[in-house]
Amino acid sequence: MSALAIVPGEIINLFQEHFRTGATPVVYRAPGRVNLIGEHTDYNLGYVFPIALDMACYVAIAPAQHGKLRIYSRDVNDEFALDVREIQAAMPQKKWHDYVVGVARELVSVGMTIEAADICIISQVPAGSGLSSSAALEISTAVALLGGRNMKPLDIALLGQRAESGFVGMPCGIMDQYASVFGHAGAAIQIDCRSLEHEYVEIPEDVRIFAVNSMVKHELGTSAYRDRVAECQAAVAAIQEIEPEVRSLRDVPLALFARIQESVPLTPRKRARHVISETQRVLDFAAAARANDLREMGRLFIASHRSMQYDYEITSEEIDFLVDTAIKVPGIYGARMTGGGFGGCTVNLVAPESASSFRQALTTAYEERFHITPAFYDCKPAEGAGPV
Ligand code: GLA
Repeated sequence: MSALAIVPGEIINLFQEHFRTGATPVVYRAPGRVNLIGEHTDYNLGYVFPIALDMACYVAIAPAQHGKLRIYSRDVNDEFALDVREIQAAMPQKKWHDYVVGVARELVSVGMTIEAADICIISQVPAGSGLSSSAALEISTAVALLGGRNMKPLDIALLGQRAESGFVGMPCGIMDQYASVFGHAGAAIQIDCRSLEHEYVEIPEDVRIFAVNSMVKHELGTSAYRDRVAECQAAVAAIQEIEPEVRSLRDVPLALFARIQESVPLTPRKRARHVISETQRVLDFAAAARANDLREMGRLFIASHRSMQYDYEITSEEIDFLVDTAIKVPGIYGARMTGGGFGGCTVNLVAPESASSFRQALTTAYEERFHITPAFYDCKPAEGAGPV
C-alpha cells in the first residue's frame, strides 16, 4: 500500500464522528490524474495520454433516514444538505458541492434512484493543481451513489463530464473523468477522444515521473478555457470553408493544415497548430514509450510545452520557469506543463538516479525567484475508481 493510501479506518472514523452515528459506511475512491501528453486535444476529439494517480478522492457513504443527501467534506470543512426529492431541480451554487450535486442530478436523469444518505469526503488530490481534483470528486461520488448498481464504466465517465460541463459550468473534455475511471497500475492510458476507446501503454521502467506543483493558479482558468474551446471551433469553421467534410481538428492532418493554414485567422490558426501537432505528438510519444526511447519522449515533452507556451498561450511565468529550470538539470529528459493551464503543475521525466538533484535544483531556484516552495509528487500509475 502506498504511503498516500488512506486507511479506510480514517475516513470511517471521521464519518462516524462527524455524523455522530454508529453506522459503518462503505468507502469508494477515484484517482486524480497527470496527463503525460496531449493537452487540450480531448475536446478536439484527438488523443490524450494520462496516468491515474495514487492520490485519490475518498467517499464514505451510508444510508440514512432523514430524506436528504448530507455531504461533509473534510478538505473544506463544510457540510451541505439537499432533500433527495429536490436533486433534479437543484441549481449550481458556485461551491464545492456543485460537483457532488451535479453528479447526483445526472444519475437521477438516467433513471437511477438516489436514496437518503450521509456522505463524507476526503481528497488527497490538491485542488487547482491541474491533477484533476474535480474529476476525482465527481467519479468517487458517482461510484459511491451507485453503490452496488451496475453502470458501464464509460457511462460513468461521461456522466461525470456532463456534471462538470452542464452543472458546474466548466466546458471540459472527457480526459479527466475517463482517466479516473479507467486508470491502470503500471500503464498510461492512450485515449482516442473520438471513438472513446483506449489502450494501455507501459511506461519504461528506468524513468520516474514527477509532477511539480507551482502552487500558483491564475484565476482566469475557466474563462480562458472557454475561449480556447471557441477559438478551436472558429478554426474548424474557417477550415470547413475549404474542406467542408472536416468536423473537428482531429480530422485535419498536419500536412493539410500546413497547406491551408493561411486561410485561418491568426489566433484560431495558432490554437489549431497546437492541437493538430499535439495530437501527432501523443502518437509519437506512445511509439517512443513502446520503444523505450526516453530521449525521444523527453524531446516530445519539451515540444509540447513550447507549443502550449507560444501557440496555445496557456502557460504562466512560474510554469515556464519550472520547465526551463528542469530541462537544464542533468538526467532530466523533458518537462512540460500538465492539465488545463495558467498555473498548476509541470510533469517531468527524470532518470531515477537524478531524482534528488532534480528536487534540490528546482526547489532552490524556484524559492529564489518566486519565494514559493514547490511541491513534488512521485507519480506511479494507479488503478481507476472503485470500492476500497
Ligand atoms: C482540463 C479539462 C480536460 C482537458 C485538459 C487540458 O483538465 O478538464 O478535459 O481539456 O484541461 O488538456
